[in-house]
Amino acid sequence: MDLRSPRGTLDLLPPTGSRMRALYDRAAALARLSGYRYVETPGFEATELFARTSGETSDVVTKEMYTFEDRKGRSLTLRPEGTAPVMRAYLADLQAQPSPFKAYYLTRMYRYARPQEGRYREHRQFGIEVFGTEDPAADAEVIAVGDGFLRALGLQRIELQVNSIGDEVCRPAYREELIAFLRTNRDRLTDEHRDRFEDNPLRVLDCKDDACRAVAKEAPKIIDRLCDPCRAHFEGVQDGLKEAGLAWTIEPTLVRGLDYYTRTAFEFVSPGLSPQQATLFGGGRYDGLAELLGGPHVPGVGFGMGLERVLMAIDQEGLTPPEEPGLAVFVVGVGDAGRARTRDLVRELRAAGVASESSFDDRPLKAQLKMADRAGAAYAAIVGDRELEAGTVTLRRLEDGQQDDVPADGLVARLASEAEAG
Ligand code: HAM
Repeated sequence: MDLRSPRGTLDLLPPTGSRMRALYDRAAALARLSGYRYVETPGFEATELFARTSGETSDVVTKEMYTFEDRKGRSLTLRPEGTAPVMRAYLADLQAQPSPFKAYYLTRMYRYARPQEGRYREHRQFGIEVFGTEDPAADAEVIAVGDGFLRALGLQRIELQVNSIGDEVCRPAYREELIAFLRTNRDRLTDEHRDRFEDNPLRVLDCKDDACRAVAKEAPKIIDRLCDPCRAHFEGVQDGLKEAGLAWTIEPTLVRGLDYYTRTAFEFVSPGLSPQQATLFGGGRYDGLAELLGGPHVPGVGFGMGLERVLMAIDQEGLTPPEEPGLAVFVVGVGDAGRARTRDLVRELRAAGVASESSFDDRPLKAQLKMADRAGAAYAAIVGDRELEAGTVTLRRLEDGQQDDVPADGLVARLASEAEAG
């Protein structure tokens, strides 16, 4: 049996698991702070959901979907992205949900791409979505939540790029203009785009290949072709960003890889990472998405953030990654009586909210102290014959070995107050 995880997937064992968990906890706390509520949708959906919304010509649909038939021959797809499923679930429960509707999710996504550093077949996303408003203040809030998350982790080398890709009023004419431009530059495109650009010319702008990028640079820019309402909206978004104290650059070739976007498109990139993995999060507005699913007009805006990439960026900037809180105390019992007391103490500590454990089996003092160290405990509390007789516990701070005799009946209260403080 090959014990490695399937190609393109990760096992998150300690300490990485603990770091990912810490990111989840922080993301949830931050999203709640701005009024977003937790949602979950199924890990798989009808294939049609993604085919309709991501776009028949997008990489996600043409190359990357994990599609399978179930036993009744229904075509299902492992969730490659979160926006369409959350919108589907919202529309299915429209009467009971508020508007605007603000949701966040922390979950796994599946894309069958060639695995490489920062690009996996299963990755984790922190995403937020706002449904039910066209107000550019919502776009600015969404971007500010993502920025706040990254800054709170200490990341500094991150850049916000924004663009507006227009709407159904101004994009069709731009699209034609772009096709005409690409026709005259056809020979300079990569093979893939040379044959396909007429289906979706915007995809050329998004291509990371140098040849396409050179063409994209000279191409007409959508922000120069926006209709008045789209231009006013884009200005509104930028006013909101200014108000929130964010810095950004306008990136005219930023169009995003999924077809449901309208107007605002944005990405946060970490220039320290290589271009294929540099986008920490991306998102934008999708005012036509609900209608693609047969629903009413429900405008929306949101982002999806790749959490493995966030950990890579933390590492790349030389920062200490957050970890879930460790064990406060490992209780060490010596001798039969000491071990019996240890089990009582652990029960009392846990009941008081102090993370604690002890050895299941009988081991020498030294071996138990080693266990305490490996468990990452802040303290070892030692209970042996001497302590039992004196009614004390020896409390050793593992960081520096400093030791105290603490009255046994005060131990729980003392560690509980330390746990509360921090
Ligand atoms: P996306 O740009 O396809 O957008 O993905 C969002 C983020 O997920 C990317 O910026 C990247 O950090 C991460 N990501 C995507 N694919 C992979 C992969 N194969 N391996 C590792 N990380 C990856 C969406 O999914 C949209 N649903 C975002 C959105 C939400 N737009 C509006 N609301």
